[in-house]
Amino acid sequence: MAVGSMNVEEGTKAFPAKLTFQVFLCCVIAAVGGLMFGYDIGISGGVTSMDTFLLDFFPHVYEKKHRVHENNYCKFDDQLLQLFTSSLYLAGIFASFIASYVSRAFGRKPTIISASIFFFVGAILNLSAQNLGMLIGGRILLGFGIGFGNQTVPLFISEIAPARFRGGLNVMFQFLITIGILGASYVNYLTSTLKNGWRYSLGGAAVPALILLIGSFFIHETPASLIERGKDEKGKQVLRKIRGVEDIELEFNEIKYATEVSTKVKSPFKELFTNRENRPPLVCGTLLQFFQQFTGINVVMFYAPVLFQTMGSGNNASLISTVVTNGVNAIATIISLVMVDLAGRKCLLVEGAIQMTVTQMTIGGILLAHLKLVGPITGHAVPLIVLVLICIYVSGFAWSWGPLGWLVPSEIYPLEVRNAGYFCAVGMNMVCTFIIGQFFLSALCRFRSFLFFFFGVMNIIMGLFVVFYLPETKGVPVEEMAEKRWKTHSRWKKYFKD
Ligand code: BGC
Repeated sequence: MAVGSMNVEEGTKAFPAKLTFQVFLCCVIAAVGGLMFGYDIGISGGVTSMDTFLLDFFPHVYEKKHRVHENNYCKFDDQLLQLFTSSLYLAGIFASFIASYVSRAFGRKPTIISASIFFFVGAILNLSAQNLGMLIGGRILLGFGIGFGNQTVPLFISEIAPARFRGGLNVMFQFLITIGILGASYVNYLTSTLKNGWRYSLGGAAVPALILLIGSFFIHETPASLIERGKDEKGKQVLRKIRGVEDIELEFNEIKYATEVSTKVKSPFKELFTNRENRPPLVCGTLLQFFQQFTGINVVMFYAPVLFQTMGSGNNASLISTVVTNGVNAIATIISLVMVDLAGRKCLLVEGAIQMTVTQMTIGGILLAHLKLVGPITGHAVPLIVLVLICIYVSGFAWSWGPLGWLVPSEIYPLEVRNAGYFCAVGMNMVCTFIIGQFFLSALCRFRSFLFFFFGVMNIIMGLFVVFYLPETKGVPVEEMAEKRWKTHSRWKKYFKD
């Protein structure tokens, strides 16, 4: 079934293609990898603050927690407990490195299937954990699931989608991340009062893994991966099916040419770091993920419940804050689904950076003036204004740096270094998430509202980076990116020979 037809960005070859139901289905199923990632982001914070969980696994933390009083800026934190949460990211970095090879050698589809199996087994291990060893073993397997999934899903979508619809289809990955976060926070709310509630919360991760596992059997391998592994006829067959047209020769030839270059490269990482022509996508792709984390999104998402507690009481305020921020996060991502292929990547990234700068600076200023170390903000006006500002901030992230931090690195590399290059982006995401999770919450405690000014400045820098260094990739077929964008970019063309 064809649900649309394609026009291609000016200056690029028009490959005949329709947005077929097959492509749509493949992208939706693969994007369930995002649901796994989001579920873990949303579930971990809640579980590690459940008393029954602490009593079972971290009794010293439980004791400390009940001795120490939180102030408005210092949510109770413990390096060991944070390390437990972040251990997943350490496993994830290692796993995405391995996945970059697995995906090149065996294809995207088996790598996605492996991701779901790792995540499923990890969830079951956590659900039935009797000791810390089982818990950490489970966490490492979850990290493998996320590493394999995040490394492969956005690349898979970018390769299988027609250029004209690539952005919107890819943003589904981020959309499902936000649904995962929202769903997980609701699960935590339901289980937090149950005896052994943490088991259900952690075990719930098996659900997205199972959906992905079953769904993966219905997706097609990408033509680029098939042709790269010498399966030309199968590649043509899949191309015809997913493009919904008979005339696929032009696109096939372009992929074939890319794979000929690709198969000559024996060591993708060496090629990535030594060939100057790979420098522009390497710098842009990796920095985009660095900047994504330094928008401060995870500090804000963590901090929001504490802040909102000053507006209401206990659980209620936390629930409201979670639903509001996570709900806004999911809804605003839908805007990106539509806009990314119309307005383009750069426009969204710059707009998002401006929106986040203004809101961060204003929140910082308000807190500096009104929020004392302990005790609530008096009156309703200020908390309400801060709530609105946080929603504007989160929506700015959700339609720009959130999805585009994954999309852009997946569409800018030539085939021979695509997996290796994308690993640098995924690895950067995980390293920075680890750093922010491990150290920035303590920094919030020490630097208080000034941290918001720090992130405000970071947002200005990233906006300027996009204006001057990032080419617009909207509508450009992935295999034509070097020719049409990097070689013609005023700041990057010097990296290419004639
Ligand atoms: C980021 C996460 C973040 C989430 C929020 C993702 O793209 O990588 O760190 O928590 O978006 O929606």
